Amino acid sequence: MTTTDTGHDGVRTIETGAVPARFARGWHCLGLSERFRDGRPHTVHAFGSKLVVFQSGDGRLNVLDAYCRHMGGDLSQGTVKGDEIACPFHDWRWGGDGRCKKIPYARRVPLRARTAAWTTLDQDGLLFVWNDPEGNPPPDGVAIPRIEGAASDGWTDWRWNETVVHTNCREVVDNVVDMAHFFYVHYSFPTYFKNVFEGHTATQIMKGLSRPDARPPSKKGRPGMLGNTSVATYHGPSFMIDDLTYHYEGMDLDCVLINCHYPVDANSFVLQSGIIVERDERLGAAGAEEMAARLSDFILRGFEQDVRIWKNKTRIDNPLLCEEDGPVYQLRRWYEQFYVDAADVRPEMVERFEFELDTTRPVEAWKKEVEENLARRAAAAAGGASPGTVSRDAVSPGEVSPGGAA
Ligand code: FES
Ligand SMILES: [Fe+2]
Repeated sequence: MTTTDTGHDGVRTIETGAVPARFARGWHCLGLSERFRDGRPHTVHAFGSKLVVFQSGDGRLNVLDAYCRHMGGDLSQGTVKGDEIACPFHDWRWGGDGRCKKIPYARRVPLRARTAAWTTLDQDGLLFVWNDPEGNPPPDGVAIPRIEGAASDGWTDWRWNETVVHTNCREVVDNVVDMAHFFYVHYSFPTYFKNVFEGHTATQIMKGLSRPDARPPSKKGRPGMLGNTSVATYHGPSFMIDDLTYHYEGMDLDCVLINCHYPVDANSFVLQSGIIVERDERLGAAGAEEMAARLSDFILRGFEQDVRIWKNKTRIDNPLLCEEDGPVYQLRRWYEQFYVDAADVRPEMVERFEFELDTTRPVEAWKKEVEENLARRAAAAAGGASPGTVSRDAVSPGEVSPGGAA
């Protein structure tokens, strides 16, 4: 399908392609596991269907298809009874393994009374489900790595947020290679940018400077922010761990940022962010908590900036790229591995691929733009006129500037 075809020779046509008919194979994070531990069943709309998440009496978190195989009742409106979820319609009891264990009014449970149970992983305070359209278990080596800080008193607890975005989730994955949007959409200033794709992982390494035209000057007594270093890796199609360090005058601040999502259907997904911050004595007793809260807000603002773009843009299968753009086509080739049967994964989808962007020209152009913004701001301050073109959104809540990989 095309959205632009003027019939003029030489006019670039946008190919929007079709959204995939299936959902990616891989681990998907459903959020903080604690949220599901309140003894009640939870409804989760994911992978084009409805799921129920419940904690059984043995403490395990279980994920089943929500629709009861008896007469279609919604298990997520039911009740947890012991180790089973009881359907609100006729009280059939379903175990976390997907088997019907008991029908209180019946002499026996029908043979093959079984519903779909999802493989789960409860790790570092997060609940994951394995999605595989072919129904296979997760292969060896396709694991979500442990996040050391998440289990450590030396780090804050998760600050977690989620929001529904109404577009296909490929848009968020594209950002892995999109250096330029960090300047124009997020008001950060990348100076180094590299991607490495290998197997089921895709990494973005980015260094950036703080942008003086996009934030108020540091408050007195607070160290000025110099820049950040971010090493962010997607482990599979949807879960990115970003080791993010903010560099301040005289100190570094280490964070782990999670950027993850799960598809609701082909045209919407739940976008989630989580952050933990290392407790550094130089931040003071409440400093790390405060910093985590501020960063969390800040990351949300970053997501909002992306969402504003996604809301209005078109899907595009044939982006027209310049030399200073990242490897969009190679990234999408990597991403495709999750949408084909395991037997159809081609070597070029998983082979190691490395690309470091030459940032010389962008850095030159952006320095100039920042200087112009500052000059305009100074002139406006002197003359009392409007401060110029940098939007209010550019003003971050503190001295930080977004690193972050999305
Ligand atoms: S529909 Fe679930 S018990 Fe009847
Ligand atoms: Fe972004």
